[in-house]
Amino acid sequence: MFNVVLVEPEIPPNTGNVGRLCLATESTLHLVKPFGFSLDDRQLKRAGLDYWDDVDLRTWDSFEDLQSAQSSGARYFFLTTKTDRAYHNVRFQGGDFLVFGRETKGLPEKLLEANIDNCVTIPMHGTRSLNLATAVAIVLFEAVRQQR
Ligand SMILES: C[S@@+](CC[C@H](N)C(=O)[O-])C[C@H]1O[C@@H](n2cnc3c(N)ncnc32)[C@H](O)[C@@H]1O
Repeated sequence: MFNVVLVEPEIPPNTGNVGRLCLATESTLHLVKPFGFSLDDRQLKRAGLDYWDDVDLRTWDSFEDLQSAQSSGARYFFLTTKTDRAYHNVRFQGGDFLVFGRETKGLPEKLLEANIDNCVTIPMHGTRSLNLATAVAIVLFEAVRQQR
């Protein structure tokens, strides 16, 4: 239904949880290297429970490789705290790519600058950012809700 992209994920349980979210929404999980763990990591599989092997998983050497393998009409939304455009004001379409950054550093500044019109945030206060898997759940299920 949707495409969830984790750019350089570092923490295995987060990626395992995001895998379950993707399975639950019939979405594809794209992981962009380098990862902070091995795909055989026990913590990754534990967080993904028995479902990890059923996740529609694609891995990429770089974000550019991912993009060049998609059709020219593919739409990308970059999730960051560094914009004012709220996710709930976006009209998502099936097949959209929802792109999330690494746990310690977020998405690369260059990627955000090059896609400034497609940056989206989850409004919040009192903390610098949300947990990665939590952020994915919020935006992915809003996108799914809009399709129903
Ligand atoms: C733990 S956060 C990264 C924190 C990092 N220190 C930063 O300043 O970007 C991991 C990823 O979750 C997503 N995320 C977390 N909170 C978010 C929010 N309020 N709005 C949009 N994306 C968020 C972003 O994609 C972010 O790159």
